[in-house]
Order: sequence, then C-alpha cells, then structure tokens
Amino acid sequence: MPKKIALVRGDGIGPEIVGSALKILDSVSARFGRDFECVDAPMGGAAIDAFGTPMPQSSVDACKTSDAVLLGAVGGPKWDHLSGDMRPESALLGIRKAMKAYANIRPAKLYPALRPRSPIGSAAPGKGFDLVIVRELTGGIYFGARGYRIGRYGREAYDTEAYSQFEIERIVRVAFDLAMKRSKRVASVDKANVLESSRLWRYAFHEIALDYPEVSTEDMLVDNAAMQLVRDPSAFDVIVTTNMFGDILSDLAGALTGGIGLLPSASFGDGPVGIYEPVHGSAPTLPPDAANPIGTILSLAMLLEDSLDMPAEARCVRAAVEKTLNDGYRTRDICLPNDILCSTSEITAKIQENMRNAQ
Ligand code: IPM
Ligand code: MN
Repeated sequence: MPKKIALVRGDGIGPEIVGSALKILDSVSARFGRDFECVDAPMGGAAIDAFGTPMPQSSVDACKTSDAVLLGAVGGPKWDHLSGDMRPESALLGIRKAMKAYANIRPAKLYPALRPRSPIGSAAPGKGFDLVIVRELTGGIYFGARGYRIGRYGREAYDTEAYSQFEIERIVRVAFDLAMKRSKRVASVDKANVLESSRLWRYAFHEIALDYPEVSTEDMLVDNAAMQLVRDPSAFDVIVTTNMFGDILSDLAGALTGGIGLLPSASFGDGPVGIYEPVHGSAPTLPPDAANPIGTILSLAMLLEDSLDMPAEARCVRAAVEKTLNDGYRTRDICLPNDILCSTSEITAKIQENMRNAQ
C-alpha cells in the first residue's frame, strides 16, 4: 500500500514550495523505491475562492484519512478584509484542532555554511546551536474566548489565555520525551510573574518533571528567554512553551539560523499522523520562483521520519540540503555577495542532484 499524503498547498508561495517538496518526494521514490499517493486538500484563501470557505469538510476528511499532511502556507492581502472564521488562517488553526495536533515541534539549528547570515555569527564566534521549540498548538490565547464590542468609550476587544493542567501536562511530556533523546535539558518558558495561566503552567511543568529525574529543568520568563536566545542560543536545547510564546520565539529562532525560510515544523497529537509545514508564512509579495523551499523540504524530511517511519529517506533529504548549502547555493532570502543565487526551482534541482549522487 502506498503511503498517502494530503497536500494543503495554500496561498502565496505555498503552491511553489509544496511543488518543490513533491520533486524531492519523487527523488525519494526513485532512490528508495517507495510509492506515495498524494491527494489535494485545498484550504485557506484558495479554498475561499473555490468553495466559499477556508476549510472545506472534504479537505479535512482527506487530511484525516491520510498518513500525513504536508502544508505550504495560507493567507494573503486578498483575504485580509475577512474576519474571524472566514480568514484563511482560521483553516490552519482549524485543521490543527481537527487533527488534535497539540504538539508543534520546531527545530532550529545553525548550519556552519550559513553562519555569515546569522546575527549571532560574530557575537558568538565558533559556537553553533541546535535547539527545538516545543510549542503548545491547540490551546491558549489562539483558541480562548474572544470578543469585540462598542463600549462606552469606543471599540473594545479581548482575547483569553486559558490552559488546563491536562493541556499543559501533555505538551510538557512531549518535551521531556524529546529531551530524553537529546541532551536531557528542558527550559519551560512562561510569564509567571504576571499571568495566572503561566503560574499553572509552571506548576504542571514541575509535576511532570518528577517523572523525568534525569532531565535538568529551568523556568524562564518569556521576555528574558527572548534576550537569552539572542545572546547565546547554544545555551538551549529543548524549549517548551505556550502557543503564543512559541509562535513568537520560533520566528526569533528562525532569524538566528540565518532566515526563517529554513525552518521546518511537525505537529501531531497522540497518533502517528502529523501536519508538516514550514514555520514561515505565505510571503504574498515575493515574485514567482524566488521563495526558499528549504523549510518545506525539511518539513518533508520530518514527515518521512516521524509519520512514515522512513528515517534513511529523511537523512538522505537532510544531507542533500546541507550539501547544497555547503556548496554555496542560496535563494535570495539567504544569499550574500559570494554565494550562488538560485531560484526556487534551481535550488530544488540542486538538492535532487545531491540526493541522486549521495553515497
Ligand atoms: C505559524 C503561523 C500561524 C500561527 C498563523 C498563520 C495562524 O504564524 O504557524 O507560526 O500563528 O500558528
Ligand atoms: Mn508564526
């Protein structure tokens, strides 16, 4: 039986970067004799235009009946006037919720070849970093009660940050399990000096920590965490945090690697089916064939390893990406004067070539 992958191509650069990942998937098939079946699951702005809704039920069903979901990016100025449930982004939050994908894994590491692009390149000479942000994905302020009204003094709006101990504990466990396979350190990021929800977060984090006596833990306030990440990201290994703090800190981590276009992510719940997407957005103003497909290609590598149990295939993809970067090929977002500037399709072809030639 071929493995089934649902494709949410999305908007802006979404279709292009998913197209690149599909070429890489072809190379995986060719090299490893694997068979994949891909089905389209339109969501976001593209689905609003075609079906009048950002998250058609048929697309949700396609995702739920697949072995994994590969997602590009959604949203763009064309749909910015829409509100609430009609926005393209609501499909992203909606599919995460529908698939109960509460754990979002966002690895960020510095490739030696990209050191000159990283703002820490000169600040921490010789030091690299390799960290993972574990972001809670189906709770907190992105899903809490919100409202809008005209009050006595004009417009008023509110959003609610609310977490149950259950929600915190299950994401914290994901972080500890990951830390056990890495360097056995977890930093929990919160704002416990102000927020009640963060005080519960901190309490629940330490309750779970009791089950992992080998793992060393640290609590960090989010403002300080942002500063420490910029000062010395090598001090971090696994970071676990809320939906909103994780969203913000993962963009920061992206900048530290040299560009957010490089960052992959995996989202899953209690089962093996996951949603794989780059950390960046749909970049609607980029001209055609200029986007960096590496975040999506590395997301595909995570998909192969984590949902399809194909670690050798994932390693081959990652090694080909690294070789391409080492050889100096760059899309414009990460290109410096001595690098070789590539279009989306050119860098994809280079990565494919490196997969073919790999030992
Ligand atoms: C991300 C994005 C999304 C999020 C938006 C587009 C809803 O920023 O995946 O980081 O906040 O989760
Ligand atoms: Mn984000």
